[in-house]
Amino acid sequence: MGLLEGKCVVVSGAGRGIGRGHSMVLAEEGARVVVNDIDRSEAEGVVKEIEEKGGTAIANSDDVGTRAGCDALVSSCLSQFGRIDAAINNAGIVRDRSFLKMTDEEFDDVFRVHAKSTFWVSQAAAIAMREQGGGGCIINTTSGAHMGNFGQTNYAAAKGAIASMTYTWALELVRYGIRVNCIAPAASTRMTAMAKDADGKDIELPFWDPALNTPLVAYMISEEGKWITGQVFATGMERLGVMRQPAFGKTLVREGGWDVESVRRFFKDGLGPELERFGLMKAPYAFYEGLEAP
Ligand SMILES: NC(=O)c1ccc[n+]([C@@H]2O[C@H](COP(=O)([O-])OP(=O)(O)OC[C@H]3O[C@@H](n4cnc5c(N)ncnc54)[C@H](O)[C@@H]3O)[C@@H](O)[C@H]2O)c1
Repeated sequence: MGLLEGKCVVVSGAGRGIGRGHSMVLAEEGARVVVNDIDRSEAEGVVKEIEEKGGTAIANSDDVGTRAGCDALVSSCLSQFGRIDAAINNAGIVRDRSFLKMTDEEFDDVFRVHAKSTFWVSQAAAIAMREQGGGGCIINTTSGAHMGNFGQTNYAAAKGAIASMTYTWALELVRYGIRVNCIAPAASTRMTAMAKDADGKDIELPFWDPALNTPLVAYMISEEGKWITGQVFATGMERLGVMRQPAFGKTLVREGGWDVESVRRFFKDGLGPELERFGLMKAPYAFYEGLEAP
């Protein structure tokens, strides 16, 4: 018997890549899976593969970039399987462009398909989980890019919002027994095939099976994983990591508060040395002498 026998699960963007991997592995563990993808033929292909292996799944092609599509996706799980135990927000697109050239449309499309869809699917799922009782599990998908990544203003913003929503919902939904966690996956997919370096050249990457991201997801959905909430994990390839919770670092206190003159006098020696590496690649902080305009 699998770890997820009887669990009913929705996976968005599951026709390819990491979502496909989630669907296959979760079905192998006994979950009944709603395989969502805007690309219906890909979703149906995954369902066929699951059924051939003796699993249970249905295809769904609602657009999770709309609230109506997200509501319909959760409803299809309820109407087909009678309940929802987990929602995995995985669907995604990229529209990379350097900040100074990015358009509103590029920003909005990426933010909508990642962040808004995560908000919409999770809200519909959490309401259904609260009504049916017995708790549940929401798993979001962020990316190391939310730490800052060249050419990804839209994607980084969406993935940062997803991490922040994870912490917030974990606080709010604990009273209903609903756990909320997030993965920052890694895999060879259509999305990574589009990755470029800062000079716009294709990045050559080794092959990593998308399904390697799912074992932790399965564990978090299972009864054994019921104690995990409010966390972001790095999954995929050969890694399994936990992201540190965002937190304030060194803090100076001055009686009466800080004025401009005291900041000017104390900043360099007080907080200056605390300025850290930043961005996904965490280049050493190199700007103590200031940034020189050309
Ligand atoms: N591949 C990686 O290394 C990596 C790294 C970090 C984060 N991620 C995240 O993992 C998730 C999956 O990415 P992937 O690499 O498997 O990409 P992918 O392009 O292979 O798969 C994404 C799937 O989402 C579907 N989709 C897009 N818009 C949709 C919509 N509006 N409604 C329904 N389905 C939609 C696509 O059709 C596609 O099948 C994304 O959220 C991505 O940001 C991936």
